[in-house]
Amino acid sequence: MTEDAPVLRLEDITCRFPARRAGLRSSTESYVALERASLSVADGEFLSVVGPTGCGKSTLLNVAAGLLTPSSGRVEVFGRALVGTNRQAGYMFQSEALMPWRSALDNVAAGLQFRGLDRSAAREQANAWLKRVGLGGFGARFPHELSGGMRKRVALAQTLVLDPAIILMDEPFSALDVQTRQLMENELLELWSAKKKAVLFITHDLDEAIAMSDRVIVLSAGPATHPIGSFTIDLPRPRDVTAVRSHPRFVDLHARIWEAMKEEVLKGYARQMDALST
Ligand SMILES: Nc1ncnc2c1ncn2[C@@H]1O[C@H](COP(=O)(O)OP(=O)(O)OP(=O)(O)O)[C@@H](O)[C@H]1O
Ligand SMILES: [Mg+2]
Repeated sequence: MTEDAPVLRLEDITCRFPARRAGLRSSTESYVALERASLSVADGEFLSVVGPTGCGKSTLLNVAAGLLTPSSGRVEVFGRALVGTNRQAGYMFQSEALMPWRSALDNVAAGLQFRGLDRSAAREQANAWLKRVGLGGFGARFPHELSGGMRKRVALAQTLVLDPAIILMDEPFSALDVQTRQLMENELLELWSAKKKAVLFITHDLDEAIAMSDRVIVLSAGPATHPIGSFTIDLPRPRDVTAVRSHPRFVDLHARIWEAMKEEVLKGYARQMDALST
């Protein structure tokens, strides 16, 4: 570990995809999802990245997770070049990622077992985490026997049980109803504040980004997506994500960031409409 190096640094990341796989008609061109995108996450920082739909948010997170090798650019974890999967990171996916054939408890225990912990020790730690996310007593249920919010809680426990130095989250709560979502956001903040891990949180929801974060980065609409602004969120903590929305500073920050974002959101929306009509 290099002293004072950011926990995670993405430098000049460009990701090109074959045009046909990216949904373009031409089969010769390539689609540039990200172009020279740079960002870093400091120790203990909760950083959100917002951007219009389809702009390249998940692509960016996949690069940070080491699941996707960028066409060019550099990824560093604690000052060292990342090679292969980012083993310092826990990843909570945009889509449901529980194993349907395993109970909630065994879903949470799985990662520990893959790391070599024996089954009973893994289940004991998994059970403690299920309790922490409010699911004590639900360990024996299978994913299809749980509500969407409960499944997200299991996924959260599954990520945090491994005690990762970096937490990567890709719109983890976007499928939930507003009330459940705000409950989960508060729970996540509470868990985060206990250990202050570095978090890279992806969302398209500016309110969520401001309510949760220490800093918000805005991405441009695709193609060739890159950060166009970085905003420090100097709201007091601990925060209640519902109450903080009426804080005058929240309203002010929201207006400023939205000003930077709205043109990109309109561009992203127009491009999506265009793609759907062809
Ligand atoms: N493996 C891939 N092959 C080809 N194109 C891809 C691939 N992954 C992503 N893309 C394209 O890159 C662009 C960015 O995709 P990405 O999933 O990163 O966007 P996003 O911002 O996460 O979208 P959403 O808001 O819908 O979650 C899209 O145009 C997508 O079609
Ligand atoms: Mg995405």
